[in-house]
Amino acid sequence: MTMESPSESHGPDFCQGIALEQLADGEMLRGHVGGEPALLVRRGAELFAMGATCTHYGGPLAEGLVVGDTVRCPWHHACFSLRAGAAPRPPALNDLSRWRVEQQGGVAFVREPLPAATRPALVARDLPATVVPATIVIVGGGAAGHAAAETLRQEGYTGPITLLSADPAPPCDRPNLSKDYLAGTADSDWIPLRPPGFYADHAIDLRLSTPVLAIEPAAHAVLLPNDVRLPYGRLLLATGAEPIRLDMAGASLPHVHMLRTRADSDAMIARAATARRCVVVGASFIGLEVAASLRTRGLEVHVVAPEARPMERVMGAAIGDAVRAIHEQHGVSFHLGATVTAIAEDAVTLSTGEQLGADMVVVGIGVRASVALAAQAGLAVDRGVTVDEFLQTSEPDIYAAGDIARWPDRLTGQRIRVEHWVVAERQGQVAAHNMLGRRHRFAAVPFFWSQHYDTTIAYVGHAEQWDRLEIDGDPAAHDCTVGFWHNGRKLAVATIGRDLASLQAEVAFEREVNS
Ligand SMILES: Cc1cc2nc3c(=O)[nH]c(=O)nc-3n(C[C@H](O)[C@H](O)[C@H](O)COP(=O)(O)OP(=O)(O)OC[C@H]3O[C@@H](n4cnc5c(N)ncnc54)[C@H](O)[C@@H]3O)c2cc1C
Ligand code: FES
Repeated sequence: MTMESPSESHGPDFCQGIALEQLADGEMLRGHVGGEPALLVRRGAELFAMGATCTHYGGPLAEGLVVGDTVRCPWHHACFSLRAGAAPRPPALNDLSRWRVEQQGGVAFVREPLPAATRPALVARDLPATVVPATIVIVGGGAAGHAAAETLRQEGYTGPITLLSADPAPPCDRPNLSKDYLAGTADSDWIPLRPPGFYADHAIDLRLSTPVLAIEPAAHAVLLPNDVRLPYGRLLLATGAEPIRLDMAGASLPHVHMLRTRADSDAMIARAATARRCVVVGASFIGLEVAASLRTRGLEVHVVAPEARPMERVMGAAIGDAVRAIHEQHGVSFHLGATVTAIAEDAVTLSTGEQLGADMVVVGIGVRASVALAAQAGLAVDRGVTVDEFLQTSEPDIYAAGDIARWPDRLTGQRIRVEHWVVAERQGQVAAHNMLGRRHRFAAVPFFWSQHYDTTIAYVGHAEQWDRLEIDGDPAAHDCTVGFWHNGRKLAVATIGRDLASLQAEVAFEREVNS
């Protein structure tokens, strides 16, 4: 993905004026303000001027969708408020610039920049001091934990926030670890979610390499190494997931890698500098993204997996075939219908008896939710930490969000648990509001994306099973919309090359969920 540079501005200069008749209600126009790419959006009689480039990875907002008084990014569905420029829904973390718009005789002129929106203090707004906890502790410095900490401060919470992470690295852009960062096409400073001083500047006590050993709900405390007890008023559990390990001879050899953390990705980058031939075990999203990134680095890549088609269980046969073809066009060899039975220093053995030379092995056979702390604390656990629609666990002062949370999904009517970046961030936000004493339902429609070279698959909704696939377009041509139906209801939509259709499907699901 290439970011658009401000100097590439094209379209009209909004400072010179735009005839209002050029812009229908709900439409947006792409232009620039003093060379900076800008959008002019009309909602009824109101006009809004804001930056045109998404603050996540630089997506072109003009190709997105205006929904109510927001604009949504076509790439990964971030949402920006037209009125404030704020980014209320991740994955974008930063607000857009805004300008004042003046209307004169049927012409709109974009004038001076507007200051960043400010929020009034929390307690003064809608919450009595008695419901706001004295301290908040967050266990897990990933997508959900980070989003919760930021939201608490944005909402004006002034009490102590402690963000505990077992990881030695600060919260990072985990999806990038298998994509551009691993491929060597992203700078390392893209990876931390925030610059080094951010946490201190926002009085967030980020403690790295600090695993929580136990939760003591009765004492309202967590146990840290060296017998340290940290009290909490409310607690967020956001411990994510751990890669499943292979259990076989050779699985612990140094050239066998798994990918969850920045250190894992760095270790793979170091290995790839001298390795020539990599076997990827598992045709999962992460396994195949790793395959793409290592091909970009010039390694020979073999993918070994038991299924007949990659991604078929989640995406269906047609997209599975398309994904396989994309990788084969880039030189990846597939060994499907096979498993790895042994790993040696220079080769792996397959269940078919075949031997593949390999000086690097990457295991991507799925993850397991990290629920040990929750289970030990006596919280309700059922293939994830059980939470209600407010993300509250069976202990009223403990919330859970992200990969560990199994919540009642309004679209499917089932309790689901997913492993999606944007869901984890949005749950972190909702949990933050609710830890402050609000009652916000988590009603977002699940969304994830996966990137293979320059092809991105977007998926909204959730279909663990389906009885009908509705395919519009041609997956093999990387131009399709696939609907997943079950019992006469559409539960999910996957798209390739149709970002707008993905946004429209998201909005349609949201209407269904909120009707
Ligand atoms: C390589 C990779 C690529 C991905 N790509 C995509 C993608 O393209 N699109 C997408 O939608 N999703 C993607 N995902 C999934 C996405 O990253 C996860 O869904 C998301 O990170 C989950 O967020 P989380 O906060 O629940 O957990 P995490 O982000 O995993 O964070 C968990 C945190 O908890 C900490 N922790 C665990 N146990 C303890 C403990 N006992 N004490 C203290 N801290 C603890 C960990 O150190 C970590 O900091 C990808 C994941 C990986 C690994
Ligand atoms: S580039 Fe806009 S959400 Fe990712």
